Amino acid sequence: MLLDATWRLSRPLLFQLDAERAHRFIVGSLGRAPRLAANLLGAAALSPAPELACKVGPLHLRSPIGLAAGLDKDGEAIPSWAALGFGFVEVGTVTAHAQDGNPQPRLFRLPAHRALINRMGFNNHGSAALAARLRRLRESGGWPEIPVGANIGKSKVTPLDEAAEDYLTSVSLLDELVDYLTVNVSSPNTPGLRELQQRERLAPLLEAVAARSSVPVFVKLAPDLEESALHEAVEVAVDSGCAGIIATNTTNTRPVEDPLCEEAGGFSGRPLWPLAHERVRQVIEAASDRVPVIGVGGVDSVERAQALLDLGCAAVQLYSALIFEGPSLVSRLNHGLAASSGRAG
Ligand SMILES: Cc1cc2nc3c(=O)[nH]c(=O)nc-3n(C[C@H](O)[C@H](O)[C@H](O)COP(=O)(O)O)c2cc1C
Repeated sequence: MLLDATWRLSRPLLFQLDAERAHRFIVGSLGRAPRLAANLLGAAALSPAPELACKVGPLHLRSPIGLAAGLDKDGEAIPSWAALGFGFVEVGTVTAHAQDGNPQPRLFRLPAHRALINRMGFNNHGSAALAARLRRLRESGGWPEIPVGANIGKSKVTPLDEAAEDYLTSVSLLDELVDYLTVNVSSPNTPGLRELQQRERLAPLLEAVAARSSVPVFVKLAPDLEESALHEAVEVAVDSGCAGIIATNTTNTRPVEDPLCEEAGGFSGRPLWPLAHERVRQVIEAASDRVPVIGVGGVDSVERAQALLDLGCAAVQLYSALIFEGPSLVSRLNHGLAASSGRAG
């Protein structure tokens, strides 16, 4: 209630700000005093009901609702995400080299469609800086009681042929600090990155990462792969020892008409749902119970989260809906899923 009321009051003000400034203001504020922020949010949010506890491969989650990569790229506010009721959190994408990303503006809201377009371009402080922050959080006793994963990508300066070394640098820095790693080969804003989804590039990359990592490795795929390419990528992931698949990232297509659709970048949010749902279904079919699938794309309601779980997802993630629906969305989803599991039981 309190969280919702605060959000209703602050949303119009935040939406007056440029989207990236609003984002920096929120994540920066939560990150300045992470444990204090988490205590305040924890007092206002509801903890997930015990019946929501589930597993994704070896990971134990208290809820199947996770924070998708990109919102907290540098892991600034991890305790706050746990306090909101998320069952797991994915920070990143980080890259071996710190980088500024693309010129601003690079993040656009389409409020009428509850959608975002972004071409951030992996702006991040680098995997060494993330490792230092994670270590400090662990040593301070502020580490949350939920799995925290790190999503890793390729630095822009690194040629595609040397991508594996770039990923491996991040693996060796982060491996002992996180509960899982996600190999991101699907963001549309680093030139050439999505080519890493092709079998001849994906297989050696995932094999190298899985061999070097002591935690479960996931791979995150794009919704713009056709069904046959998606099936092939899943096959490669399974053969390479991946612990699971995350489907999907943002799309290069434009599922709605809006003047802002002219902006280059990945599209996410409510209108991504039909495409994401179809791709998740195809990934689950291809995985055929060999590895778990985490569904992501356009999840903004209990019905959509439940629909992905009913398809066979082990868990779901979200990003854009948090911007439009506010932080109490996580409690609402947890509450609604618990109620529907009670009815089903
Ligand atoms: C501004 C923004 C930045 C993102 N950055 C990343 C990223 O760094 N790495 C990544 O794997 N996905 C990133 N994503 C994609 C999300 O994790 C998610 O896959 C996608 O937005 C679809 O989910 P949604 O509709 O719930 O937002 C980003 C999304 C947005 C909106």
